[in-house]
Amino acid sequence: MLEGLDAWRSMPAAQQPTWGDDAALAQAVQTLRKSPPLVFAGECDELRARLAAAARGEAFVLQGGDCAETFSGTNADDIRDRIKTILQMAVVLTYGASLPVVKLGRMAGQFAKPRSSDVETRDGVSLPAYRGDAVNDYAFTAEARRHDPARLVQAYHASSSTLNLIRAFTQGGFADLRQVHEWNRGFVGNTAKARYEVMARDIDKAMRFMDACGADFDALRTVAFYASHEALILEYERALTRIDSRTGDPYDVSGHFVWIGERTRQLDGAHVDLLSRVRNPIGVKLGPKTSADDVLRLIDKLDPDREPGRLTFISRMGAERIRDALPALVETVASAEGQVLWICDPMHGNGFESPSGYKTRRFDDIIEELRGFFEVHKALGTVPGGVHLELTGSDVTECLGGYEQIDEEGLAMRYESVCDPRLNHQQSLEVAFLVAEMLGER
Ligand code: PEP
Ligand code: CO
Repeated sequence: MLEGLDAWRSMPAAQQPTWGDDAALAQAVQTLRKSPPLVFAGECDELRARLAAAARGEAFVLQGGDCAETFSGTNADDIRDRIKTILQMAVVLTYGASLPVVKLGRMAGQFAKPRSSDVETRDGVSLPAYRGDAVNDYAFTAEARRHDPARLVQAYHASSSTLNLIRAFTQGGFADLRQVHEWNRGFVGNTAKARYEVMARDIDKAMRFMDACGADFDALRTVAFYASHEALILEYERALTRIDSRTGDPYDVSGHFVWIGERTRQLDGAHVDLLSRVRNPIGVKLGPKTSADDVLRLIDKLDPDREPGRLTFISRMGAERIRDALPALVETVASAEGQVLWICDPMHGNGFESPSGYKTRRFDDIIEELRGFFEVHKALGTVPGGVHLELTGSDVTECLGGYEQIDEEGLAMRYESVCDPRLNHQQSLEVAFLVAEMLGER
């Protein structure tokens, strides 16, 4: 009978790779177990406190980044552009909410993907599906698609260099509020959208006021930026779970915040069990089929002490479903007397395939789901605590619409995602301005 942090090994575990090479897996796990932590327990505790504030309505969470990070995307320019986009969005949201924004990258660990099918078929050839760079390669050959445990170690190193850059960029002057605001002025100038100009001008005024007062404090120059990913591959997460020397508690030191996906949140499953035993703040994705009973049992299992900031539910219902599906769950959670944080993922319930064969999402559906999220919480008197977005810092053409009006033909121009379609830099900022308006109307 396996116990404690290894109890999950005797439970059903969905979406795990089939490595097929026990010796190579053992070697990779051994390497990971000896490797230094990527994040520190104290940082996870600090994030938990910030998430608790968001659950009370005293902060707002911005969680964003790639659907699937890649090893080739682990370079200074791409990482910088993603951080820059999130920082730009955060300034707009801070203004809209008049609240601190908790910045949480889907970064430095988002290298593994659940898939709806184990195989992918192209022109009559079937190969194992791509499961993220931590498992196999995207190229459509048998060798590339083989599940290779050595990739877990590569994912660790890619996460480590990403975190190193995140720490440098957010502490070293790059994140200075005044500079981020200058970037946003550039964006607003380009969009010619009067409604964004009004807010940008207001922010400008606030900045000049602060300047005139001589305000120049640390909080203007540096930001706290946390790393998060889906805790999917249990061998990886287990190998990076360590006992904190201060408290004797286990922490998953692969990232500050880890979440359980919609496909792996079975109550008697391995993912829920492993994450129930670590002290990190954790999340669970909830799709439109989630029952009230599911959420109650998830709370009891993952947050038995009802600890503020411990548990986040990330709803991903789809624009058409959110107004029907979300209220009962929010009410149930309220009745459980939890301190659960609600954040909205308006991406994963709104995907479809374009006639030209691209996996895509409509910008307008994303906004519509966000509106539904705010409406539901307003009607129930509960807190809409944040947003969870798939985005990138470059000019990709993966989601339809936005002020550039990307259409179905446009998708072919720069479709680069190896998994789900992401908002590009401009679309991300546009979402930030629209969410800021919704926050202002809360
Ligand atoms: C994801 O976040 O990329 C994902 C797979 O989400 P979900 O678990 O909500 O389907
Ligand atoms: Co995705």
